[in-house]
Amino acid sequence: MAEQVIDTRGRPVRDLRISVTDRCNFRCTYCMPKEIFNQDYEFLARDLLLSFDEIERIARVFVDLGVRKIRLTGGEPLLRRGIEELVGRLAAIDGVDDLTLTTNGALLARKAEALAAAGLDRVTVSLDSLDDDTFQAMNDVGFPVSGVLEGIEAAAEAGLVPIKINMVVKRGVNEESIVPMAEHFRGTGHIVRFIEFMDVGTTNGWCLDDVVPAAEVVRRIDEVFPLDPVAPNYPGEVARRFRYRDGAGEIGVIASVTQPFCGDCTRARISAEGVLYTCLFASKGTDLRSLVRDGASDDELADVVARVWAARTDRYSEIRSDATTGLVRVEMSYIGG
Ligand code: GTP
Ligand code: 5AD
Ligand code: SF4
Ligand code: SF4
Repeated sequence: MAEQVIDTRGRPVRDLRISVTDRCNFRCTYCMPKEIFNQDYEFLARDLLLSFDEIERIARVFVDLGVRKIRLTGGEPLLRRGIEELVGRLAAIDGVDDLTLTTNGALLARKAEALAAAGLDRVTVSLDSLDDDTFQAMNDVGFPVSGVLEGIEAAAEAGLVPIKINMVVKRGVNEESIVPMAEHFRGTGHIVRFIEFMDVGTTNGWCLDDVVPAAEVVRRIDEVFPLDPVAPNYPGEVARRFRYRDGAGEIGVIASVTQPFCGDCTRARISAEGVLYTCLFASKGTDLRSLVRDGASDDELADVVARVWAARTDRYSEIRSDATTGLVRVEMSYIGG
């Protein structure tokens, strides 16, 4: 076991988020706006993507440095051919306590069974509204709510639980969907998390006026279904938890804009082409693919990762300002959620 590494603010590396493709079958307006992500957009060529061998190798290096939780992301991770095989390989790594995946749910009904069989622990499904007009305007490809709900059902049947449902809330777009969403999933065991619209990337036209503060989300739900705050499951948990007073389960809010959580951030991210980022809002990363393809040993790889992590200073959400929002940042679809 390599030495555990901590960054300049005392944070260990515990979570690894691996993007397996920069492509997606949705065009969510807050993530991959059609005007930019159209026929002319150049997605990563196949030979630039990390192979499963390369992903597994890099993951093992991170687990050796202290990672206990791995999340597969995209783009849309279920678009990556053979994703179940990758899940199987990662599930077999000693030390991975939680293996999960964030998906838009479109292909989940077809894939849930195979993913569970391969060793995936649970899934998080994005769903921004239960109202078809609203949802279709947000995913911008006309995908129906029913398709995602079928995916969620299949995941539940396959035992990929607890299922988390991510809803990005945008002012004036889907704020009327907050309470119906809470109501629909109350009592199902699934946990809805309401996410403040973030300034990830530079193409989604983010502005502070579009953000519905998490405190307002909680207030709106609490007025109809009373809520009590709950302590985090683990230090550095991204979502703040609330429980329905009547016992119908819990919700979470992810308040990256109004209540940043950088202090305990233990997350590293790898893009589909093998670049390591130490913050969701990073503009620069470290190319691990070249190292791997140039024949670096596991020790050499671990050395580079440990050095990058030890030098880490990131706390973007805490210092967000006009100056920082103006910086060029990588896109969400590239870096993964
Ligand atoms: P659990 O392991 O289920 O608790 O998942 P999670 O809390 O890591 O949540 P998930 O991966 O579903 O992410 C939910 C939302 O939080 C997404 O919009 C992410 O982009 C955002 N998010 C996750 N990690 C970070 C982070 O380190 N910084 C910021 N600013 N946002 C994050
Ligand atoms: N702000 C907040 N959340 C976002 N997501 C994608 N783009 C943004 C953004 N700009 C969410 C997706 C998904 C998760 C990985 O990140 O909806 O649930
Ligand atoms: Fe695709 Fe997820 Fe981005 Fe929507 S938020 S475009 S589903 S990667
Ligand atoms: Fe971590 Fe960066 Fe998010 Fe802060 S903004 S919580 S440092 S990923």
